[in-house]
Amino acid sequence: MNLDAIPRDRLPALLCAMPKAELHIHIEGSLEPELIFALAQRNGVSIPYASVDALREAYAFTDLQSFLDIYYAGASVLLKEEDFFDMAMAYFRRAAADHVVHAELFFDPQTHTERGVSFETVIDGLTRAGETAQRELGVSSALILCFLRHLSEEAAFETLEQALPFRDRFIGVGLDSSERGHPPEKFARVFAKCRELGLRLVAHAGEEGPPAYIWSALDVLKVERIDHGVRCVEDPALVKRLAAERVPLTVCPLSNVKLCVYPDMAAHQLGALLDAGLCATVNSDDPAYFGGYMNANFLATFDALPALGARQAYQLAKNSFEASFVDEALKAAWEQKLDKAFAAF
Ligand code: ADE
Ligand code: ZN
Repeated sequence: MNLDAIPRDRLPALLCAMPKAELHIHIEGSLEPELIFALAQRNGVSIPYASVDALREAYAFTDLQSFLDIYYAGASVLLKEEDFFDMAMAYFRRAAADHVVHAELFFDPQTHTERGVSFETVIDGLTRAGETAQRELGVSSALILCFLRHLSEEAAFETLEQALPFRDRFIGVGLDSSERGHPPEKFARVFAKCRELGLRLVAHAGEEGPPAYIWSALDVLKVERIDHGVRCVEDPALVKRLAAERVPLTVCPLSNVKLCVYPDMAAHQLGALLDAGLCATVNSDDPAYFGGYMNANFLATFDALPALGARQAYQLAKNSFEASFVDEALKAAWEQKLDKAFAAF
């Protein structure tokens, strides 16, 4: 396949049509303002915004924390199993339209259990949506439970305890929420326990936090993927290690610009990460808040970074399959599908 022969004007169509996996999506971050208002009404929850437009106008973030404050307020409308089901189905429909063949979904149980919603309610709705998406849309998926790093490790242990009766419904654990001041090592013991239990391990690191947080996510938590990780470029020894070990980075370009990690998309380091031989992937993070789902992320990135072409598009899709937590046979089947899609251009 001659990737360099694909003309640049065919790139947007190619980016949209190519099969891909999404590995960094907080399902609560897929809650669109329209659905927030509909669920608020259905559940009799009041929200401090007069309209869908007023809520959308509040999405002007200056950093991660300014986003998280609104994100947790938005999630407060989720009370019943069907709310979690409806939210996840809306995401799966958007993902299928973007030719996402597989999605590994983060969910934040503590955001809900703190409000009196049971772990069972959350996971029942998400599980049913995952089964429905496979059956009706042909999208496969898995769940990754995230611990909120602004809370204590003791609270994470309590959440793990609540989750264990549902051990077969999620494949791994992650670490999200406010990064600065909450280094990975704060969760060393709970991650060690999860490792003993055979769970897959990931963590947000190097989004706003320093490269040192990526080192400790790898060496202390022993994670298999780094979520975001873009600040690794500040540390050449770290870049070398990530490349040598092919530790995947789940990069989220629109998120990085919306949360002011970069002043604009032209400053994004995705091209540099690929050039360094890293297993970087493109993901949407919190698509309802950051201006788009998977294809919007690919389109915005390739539009702003002229060094990215068909070769990088192919690599990013291939990386997303390589970095996913599925068996090798399934990865090989998706790679064949990818080759077929590129052959059509
Ligand atoms: N929770 C939801 N989105 C997040 C992000 N981008 N970083 C950390 N925690 C999050
Ligand atoms: Zn994230």
